[in-house]
Amino acid sequence: MESIIKVEGLAKHFSVRKHYKGRFAPLKNFFTRESTTLKAVDQLNFAIARGELVGYLGPNGAGKSTTLKMLTGLLVPSQGDVRVNGFNPWKERKAYVGHIGAVFGQRTTLWWDLPVIESLELLKYVYKIPEVRFKENLTSFIDLLELSPFLGTPVRSLSLGQRMRADLCAALLHDPVLLFLDEPTIGLDVVAKERIRDFIKFLNQERGTTVILTTHDLADVQKLCQRIMIIDQGKLLFDGQLERLQERFGGKRQLIVDFSEHYPDVHIPQASLKDYQNKRAIYEFDRRELSASELIGQLSARYQIQDLTVQEPDIEATIRTIYEKRLLST
Ligand SMILES: Nc1ncnc2c1ncn2[C@@H]1O[C@H](COP(=O)(O)OP(=O)(O)OP(=O)(O)O)[C@@H](O)[C@H]1O
Ligand SMILES: [Mg+2]
Repeated sequence: MESIIKVEGLAKHFSVRKHYKGRFAPLKNFFTRESTTLKAVDQLNFAIARGELVGYLGPNGAGKSTTLKMLTGLLVPSQGDVRVNGFNPWKERKAYVGHIGAVFGQRTTLWWDLPVIESLELLKYVYKIPEVRFKENLTSFIDLLELSPFLGTPVRSLSLGQRMRADLCAALLHDPVLLFLDEPTIGLDVVAKERIRDFIKFLNQERGTTVILTTHDLADVQKLCQRIMIIDQGKLLFDGQLERLQERFGGKRQLIVDFSEHYPDVHIPQASLKDYQNKRAIYEFDRRELSASELIGQLSARYQIQDLTVQEPDIEATIRTIYEKRLLST
């Protein structure tokens, strides 16, 4: 498939003041101006196909926002090549921004003192959007994002959830083929998060917009992303389907079985019995060693089973394991 984004050897190095620790640290830190190099993004390589919806994950300080800033042309890389929809983002920024939309959850792109509607209308001139198309998009986004109740409110008075919806609308009025979202659901309540997710899904599925989003909310990932990339200390640790992540790093699966009667002993060699009470047994097993159907086969050959469920390892726990592995490697 055709790549809309191609990233090769991308790196961003920041020069940061050296910070001493220990007894004389305050004095040393006061008098020295030595600096070290921080590799915020370190040799990234990846490609994204048109129409993909990719989750870009990683712990705090991993380099996610820095990557998105380079991809949107806000930051110039220290090394590497980026090609997005035929453009070099930082060298051809002026023409490039007409093709992309970006929402950085932590700050707004709207005019702080203007009412939302006026702020949005200004964008028609900024992006030179044809009147008819502008009206169509505005009407549709006002409806989908439920912007009506606060169109007349100055941006600075909006709640976080309202502001995020207004920002999303602003990022999309010019029909960008690509949307970059940096923590679009940060700080929102469950209902607001769900509304934003539905909207992102709509854009990707109905309009074919390619989306890259960073988030710390794994429900965003589970509901939206086919593919995820995990970055830490500027390096890509994983790139693939969520399912593959579970296979590679996920913990054990659980099988919960309700027997028809209480058997005195329900141990089997293939799985470990975690709990057994009132005819209900909980087994843990490794997907690499045994399939669920094999295990069920073993059990039903010996006992009468009334009901059973297989539980996948929690993705929250899987991601935690991956982040924690960093502690082992440094
Ligand atoms: N302008 C800058 N000058 C110096 N260091 C910076 C600058 N911008 C980012 N960094 C550093 O680069 C690293 C990566 O930061 P970045 O904002 O990309 O992380 P992130 O993955 O977005 O984290 P978070 O989940 O907290 O948003 C951090 O160590 C950060 O302190
Ligand atoms: Mg960030």
